[in-house]
Amino acid sequence: MGVKKIFSGVQPTGNLHLGNYIGAIKNFVDLQNENNDCIFCVVDLHAVTVKQDPKILKKNIRETAATFLACGINPKKSIIFNQSSVPAHSELSWYLSCVARMGWLNRMTQFKEKAGKDREKASVGLYIYPVLMAADILLYDATHVPVGEDQKQHLELARDISKKFNTDFEAPDFFKIPEPLIQKSFARIMSLKDGTKKMSKSDPSDLSRINLTDTDSEMVNKIKKAKTDTNLFPTDTYSLKSRPEIENLIGIYSSLKEKKIEDSLNDFKDQNFSFFKEELSDLIVEKISPISKEIKKIKEEKGYIDQVLRDGSDKANEISSKKIRDIKKKFGF
Ligand code: AMP
Ligand code: TRP
Repeated sequence: MGVKKIFSGVQPTGNLHLGNYIGAIKNFVDLQNENNDCIFCVVDLHAVTVKQDPKILKKNIRETAATFLACGINPKKSIIFNQSSVPAHSELSWYLSCVARMGWLNRMTQFKEKAGKDREKASVGLYIYPVLMAADILLYDATHVPVGEDQKQHLELARDISKKFNTDFEAPDFFKIPEPLIQKSFARIMSLKDGTKKMSKSDPSDLSRINLTDTDSEMVNKIKKAKTDTNLFPTDTYSLKSRPEIENLIGIYSSLKEKKIEDSLNDFKDQNFSFFKEELSDLIVEKISPISKEIKKIKEEKGYIDQVLRDGSDKANEISSKKIRDIKKKFGF
């Protein structure tokens, strides 16, 4: 297959973690290195669908960009920018909100989870969040969108919006129908404290996740304290189904080692959990510690992150303003 047009986004809401890395950012880097056309966006407009402290948001935007760079996204090869610096995202979001149907949005499970019981008090922005996400993708004619499992439904909505627009305006190929790129395994990394909950930036317990900015000793300590059980180390994948915490730890190990689960289980045959945990924390430190150190270094390079974001915005503005012009024509503006 030829060159793919890749678009993906990460919210600057702090605490980027191992789940973001394995589920998303690691794939961004692989896709870039396979010479695809890549755009990676710090989606700050999505972040403000829930209340943010402006000073902290500003810091988190830079930290998310630093994490992209530290993980191996190269601004000479890929476009890196923050969403609010490119007005076309908000503008297309409005147009697409006139195409998307209420019934489609009413099905979105992430909104239901985030809004909780008091749905009447959720922001309208949180409700139309997936429309903005569709705008992000369609604006750049992206063909492929690497995301974690939790974004699958939003991607389906983006496809539906794209198809409806093309049909409504009798313009069959105007917007691309983007394909999700979701890994077959390890697309959902779970909390270290509860294997039924996904690892999340907003979990109040820092012990539930490995942050990409953790020190070596913090990572080791978190794996030591990660929940396991008193049964023996599993020997087959079937028995993992009823042991979500163990399945998650072996999943993390296998993903970072780029091994099949079965082969990892074989590596630890007849071993105990403390041995496995030592090997796992060594592996996590080996893979994440260089990233954590690089984030720190990049943040100390005065002006560098701002320059990368400025260059990225210039490029993104150039592409997206052309697309907006064509979209406005379709509406008769
Ligand atoms: P977010 O932190 O919600 O902006 O997500 C950024 C990217 O990381 C998205 O592609 C998510 O699907 C992915 N992601 C977030 N949490 C996890 C997780 N626990 N496991 C796998 N992928 C995740
Ligand atoms: N909603 C995504 C998340 O929370 C972030 C996101 C916003 C995104 N716009 C996007 C991901 C466009 C992929 C493509 O993870």
